[in-house]
Amino acid sequence: MYELKIALQKAGRLHEESINMIKSLGIDINFTNKLKTEIFIENIYGKIQVFFLRDDDIPKYVQEGIATIGIVGKNVVVEQQKDSLIKEYLDFGFCRLSLAVHKESLFNNVKDLFGKCIATSYPNILKRYLNNKFSNNHDINIHEMNGSVEIAPNIGVADAICDLVSSGETLALNDLKEIQQIFTSQAVLISSFKNDNNILANIFISQIKAVKKAKENKYILFNVLNKKLDKIIFFLHNEKCIVTTVSQVNLIDPSYTTVKVIVKNNMIWRIIEELKKNNAKNLLIFPIQKFF
Ligand code: PRP
Ligand code: ZN
Repeated sequence: MYELKIALQKAGRLHEESINMIKSLGIDINFTNKLKTEIFIENIYGKIQVFFLRDDDIPKYVQEGIATIGIVGKNVVVEQQKDSLIKEYLDFGFCRLSLAVHKESLFNNVKDLFGKCIATSYPNILKRYLNNKFSNNHDINIHEMNGSVEIAPNIGVADAICDLVSSGETLALNDLKEIQQIFTSQAVLISSFKNDNNILANIFISQIKAVKKAKENKYILFNVLNKKLDKIIFFLHNEKCIVTTVSQVNLIDPSYTTVKVIVKNNMIWRIIEELKKNNAKNLLIFPIQKFF
């Protein structure tokens, strides 16, 4: 029996989607009570233990090996300067770190903040941005806060904030406007295990990659007249589609051949139009669950 310990965010932006990601791997994670901090799951490969932590604590726990794998925002990992833990980008939880000021403020860009104070929970990312932009030559003050940064300009603690923006709702609710994006983020998978010594962790990561790859593609099935087959297959290969099946035995109409092909999402429209132009029939498009 192998063991795998996974750290997920207890509450907040990534909580729900992290659980959904785990479910999409075929792991039956049943999280019914938000107060629960730990759950155990057994599958045929071994035991999986899921911890629910504050996102800021996840990189440290993974680095120390208390959890084998963690799912957390890239913003947290980079701020804590633990970038080397990042193993995979997960394509959800997209957000940005931005500078924002009161909506009626006359500050319109970063230079306007010279001699002023910015409140943030991301002092390292902000310092790096400012130092790069102004070659270490600026007098902007950074006021560190652990949360509720959006309140700072309204209570006179700072002239601007540097905080995460996802939907923009938090800024709007606090009468703030974005003036400069400084960093983009999304959910990442982090781990610190050595590659060969945790079989269950390796299986987990390969499953994650398969789900990611699956989301980037669709499976298309269609029937095409036998005489057009060569032309269509040539076109599909040319467009880097993966033709998985060409079945000459079409039971409905022997003058047709059935083709199955894997197509990148951004190519679907083009491929479909070309197939229609060549009188393809019974065109079906399927989502893919996992693609190894
Ligand atoms: C971030 C940020 C804002 C909110 C912005 O917090 O601090 O409060 O998300 O999202 P919106 O643009 O959709 O309103 P996060 O969920 O990362 O929690 P934390 O900073 O407390 O860990
Ligand atoms: Zn946090």
